[in-house]
Amino acid sequence: MNVNSTVIGKPISRVDGRLKTTGAARYAADHRPVEGRPLHAVLVKSSIASGRITGFDLSALQSMSGFVRFVSHLDGALIRTIKNPVDGAFAAGEEYTPFENDRVHFVGQHIGLVVAQTLEVAEAAAKAVVVDYETSAARIEFADPTAEVRQPDLYNTGEELQVSRGHVEAGLVEAVEIVKATYTTPIEHHNPIEPSATLAVWDGDHLTIYDATQGSVNDKNYVAFGMSVDPKNVRVLNPFIGGGFGCKGFTWPHTLIAAAAARAVEQPVLLVLSRKDMYTSCGHRPYTEQEVTLAADADGVLTATRHRTQSYRSLVGDHVEPCGMTTAMLYQCDNLEVTHSVRVLNRPSGTPLRSPGEAPGTFALESAMDELAEKLGMDPVDLRRRNHTDIDQRNGRKWSSKHLLECYDRGAEKIGWGRRKAPGQWRDGNDLVGLGMATACYPGYRMPTQTRLTLDRDGTLHVGVAVQDIGTGLYTVLAQMVAERFGTSPENVRVLIGDSDLPPGPLAGGSMTTASVAAAVDDGCRALSEKLRARLVDMGHTPGNEPLVIDGGALRSGPLSVPAAEVIPTDVHEIVAEGGSDDTYGFTGGVETDKSFYSFGAIFAEVRIDRDFGIIRVPKMTGVFDVGRVINAKTARSQMLGGMTFGIGMALMEETFIDDKTGRFVNPSLGEYYVPVNADVNEFDVEMLDIPDYDFNPFGARGLGEISNVGASAAIANAVYNATGIRVRHLPIRLDDLLEDLPR
Ligand code: MOS
Repeated sequence: MNVNSTVIGKPISRVDGRLKTTGAARYAADHRPVEGRPLHAVLVKSSIASGRITGFDLSALQSMSGFVRFVSHLDGALIRTIKNPVDGAFAAGEEYTPFENDRVHFVGQHIGLVVAQTLEVAEAAAKAVVVDYETSAARIEFADPTAEVRQPDLYNTGEELQVSRGHVEAGLVEAVEIVKATYTTPIEHHNPIEPSATLAVWDGDHLTIYDATQGSVNDKNYVAFGMSVDPKNVRVLNPFIGGGFGCKGFTWPHTLIAAAAARAVEQPVLLVLSRKDMYTSCGHRPYTEQEVTLAADADGVLTATRHRTQSYRSLVGDHVEPCGMTTAMLYQCDNLEVTHSVRVLNRPSGTPLRSPGEAPGTFALESAMDELAEKLGMDPVDLRRRNHTDIDQRNGRKWSSKHLLECYDRGAEKIGWGRRKAPGQWRDGNDLVGLGMATACYPGYRMPTQTRLTLDRDGTLHVGVAVQDIGTGLYTVLAQMVAERFGTSPENVRVLIGDSDLPPGPLAGGSMTTASVAAAVDDGCRALSEKLRARLVDMGHTPGNEPLVIDGGALRSGPLSVPAAEVIPTDVHEIVAEGGSDDTYGFTGGVETDKSFYSFGAIFAEVRIDRDFGIIRVPKMTGVFDVGRVINAKTARSQMLGGMTFGIGMALMEETFIDDKTGRFVNPSLGEYYVPVNADVNEFDVEMLDIPDYDFNPFGARGLGEISNVGASAAIANAVYNATGIRVRHLPIRLDDLLEDLPR
């Protein structure tokens, strides 16, 4: 099937790299309407956590030159009431309708929008809006005893959140060692470099939106519903996105508000969220408290596992941080209980953030595994090998392809695991040195995807699909896939994505785009190939059985070579074929299969801790991953570097503080929310086993991205323990967690 294996897997530089490095790539806020200038919009947000709006005093605005309009719930039904999910047609970040009524559910809720001639006037006017509230009692504190507690049944993938098998109590009795500990992870924010932005342009009842979104099709359906127009009349364009990590995944109210305001003022409206807006307008990863119990016999075989996650949700968003789902799947264990509960609080809404569930969940699980190994006197890698399974523990199915044991072996070898010493025993000058590791994993997801393949008279191939490159390398990967199928170079392929008018594809979420487009591209290429062969036959040629090659402006099959300009009739300019796959994998209700699809890996970290000051550095991280076939070694490696960097941030730096009295996020800026910078990132060693998984799709790729920060924070936490003998069970780990007890 593979025509040209010199394309797939190669470390080809991004085809869009030049556009990006020269500034020619245009992001949502860079676009301008074809005619005229847009008006600028700034959000007015609630400053109370619970209550109602009793009025706005706009007197200061009327005299502002350039002020155009203030939009709020007092304008009546600008937006159709949204009940999510509506026929499964879209996924919204919050299940409420902006400006529907006078209610306030959290600090930072959108309660109005100022539209003005310039950004400066819009900002000044938004500040000048005086809001009168009637406040009511707010539940903000995590431990608020009056907060409603819910046990949701399902995650948004359809997977069970409450899992039970065997008898945990019986397994505990069998054990010789038990670890029972509570781990916490903080509120974290996505902080993509590009803030969310929407330019909404109406032309009659047709709406064009330039949006910083991870899902143009979802965006289109959501906005069409909210604006009461046919989805056919809405076009969402997102050719370039400056990162998302989940906060641009489900569509958030600000996009709808911009569209509604543009219709109200009958002019294009540009709304760019401020960094501060980004902390309350498009989700975060909620705080989690996870109680993990692991029990093992003398050989280290797990006899019982319990993972209880407590988190919270807002009043208007239903995100649950699904920390225990990994635990239910990963290690052989017959007696298991996984539960999730959420408290309903007057806080902004949570949403998926890179590896939702897996990232905080494996911090707890993989820290507990490290603690168990310590108690048993076992090597942490050996403990994981001992409990390795070839069967998905949730459903009894075999994995389509699993090479985790090789990941452990390679990773241990590469980091020099043999150098590891007992906790607190390894000193180098003034540093305490430690090694730690953890298992990484991430589900294999696939969603229905359609694609259009075109050959033009120059012999150039075009592939079109409404997916988006959020910085991952999808433009390049698509070019490579099509190039391989037609035995040509990626330079002969034009990639059209980032436009909801193209054949529909999924959100850029769940690390699923590559695997989803793989099946669609394969089918589209087959369809185009068949059309071209039929055309060659019509022309009197007899193409052989050899695969059709399209290169150098000609179609070739065996000895036959015909210029594309001859194959394509002059009156049509191009030959177009449609293809795709309706298959869903990894979500409930997907393809019936006897296999389970997951990616695995192992992350190893070396830390050095200054003995006087407790400063933690990560001089080296090794990640070895089994993610199916790698389509582009360079962009794949970059994904892994990014994820492991995320892991450093999660382990040592990232935390959003909330004021329990007011419900405000205290540090909503990149000045006070710390993320890793170049100086924090040292030697990264990334290896991918590159073993194709053809059960998953015809290119054998399982998709990658999120897996690389799963386990990363636990590997670092475990290394900190190994260096110091101090077990820190919360994130981030900071020097003040160590200072007092450091071995001197
Ligand atoms: Mo991601 S958190 O699946 O955008």
